[in-house]
Amino acid sequence: ETTLAAAANQSGRYFGAAVAANKLSDGAYTTILNREFNSVTPENEMKIDATEPQQNNFTFGNADRIVNHALSRGWKVRGHTLAWHSQQPEWMRNMSGTALRNAMLNHVTRVATYYRGKIDSWDVVNEAFEDGNSGARRDSNLQRTGNDWIEAAFRAARAADPGAKLCYNDYNTDNWTWAKTQAVYRMVQDFKQRGVPIDCVGFQSHFNAQSAYNSNYRTTLSSFAALGVDVQITELDIEGSGTTQANTYRSVVNDCLAVPRCNGITVWGIRDSDSWRSYGTPLLFDNNGNKKQAYTATLDAL
Ligand code: XIL
Repeated sequence: ETTLAAAANQSGRYFGAAVAANKLSDGAYTTILNREFNSVTPENEMKIDATEPQQNNFTFGNADRIVNHALSRGWKVRGHTLAWHSQQPEWMRNMSGTALRNAMLNHVTRVATYYRGKIDSWDVVNEAFEDGNSGARRDSNLQRTGNDWIEAAFRAARAADPGAKLCYNDYNTDNWTWAKTQAVYRMVQDFKQRGVPIDCVGFQSHFNAQSAYNSNYRTTLSSFAALGVDVQITELDIEGSGTTQANTYRSVVNDCLAVPRCNGITVWGIRDSDSWRSYGTPLLFDNNGNKKQAYTATLDAL
């Protein structure tokens, strides 16, 4: 195969990219997007500050542009994200307690209902655990509404869109030996045991010097999958360049392909210049849209 999407599709997987609505008018950008990918994640356009800028006043224009671009071509859409401590609108940042809990659930219900039938997988909750060795939940206004806020969000999302796969998504959960990975694992295990509706776990996989790829990644993916959830690589980017970077991309793809329930890979941007990283070259295409060594390694591995 000669494109990432076609190569991934040979094993029934998708290959996606994070997409920014304001770049859909950039011809060089959409040429690569339309040729190489068959899934999208709106990079910012479905976040809480974008979809509910004023309480109970919902705006979907930019997200819709990305969703329509994808669905009209038969691609998948990953919804990102319904409940998160970050990129909250001002009104939500200032809320707490029961009022915040209800506002969060209303947000989940309204956005998931609006997109019912269009989303393959929702990142229902993003980044709810702390870094480091504590294995604790991250402190946030949402966490302070009660430890059950995550399961409440998942139940609201299931009621609003029963056909979407519901994911928990996080970073620094790639290394199987890390406390954060183990803490998320125990939460998913508990949800499955108690019948909380969860279908998938997203591994952001932003790899850099501080959070390096480790070969136990495959163990992480297969261990979560063994709990009865799909696993997805949701925001892949790898700092570095040349052969070293290409080899890491190859390892990541090989690890996903080794796990039957690892059903899709999404890179967090298209060209290096599209990356959220203000420095470095973490993606598959260079600033001019040329394929990098990392691209060839990825394609070969798929
Ligand atoms: C990033 C976007 O790429 C940036 O454009 C934005 O300024 C900040 O958010 N984890 C996530 C993503 O779940 O939503 C983040 O996206 C990157 C880290």
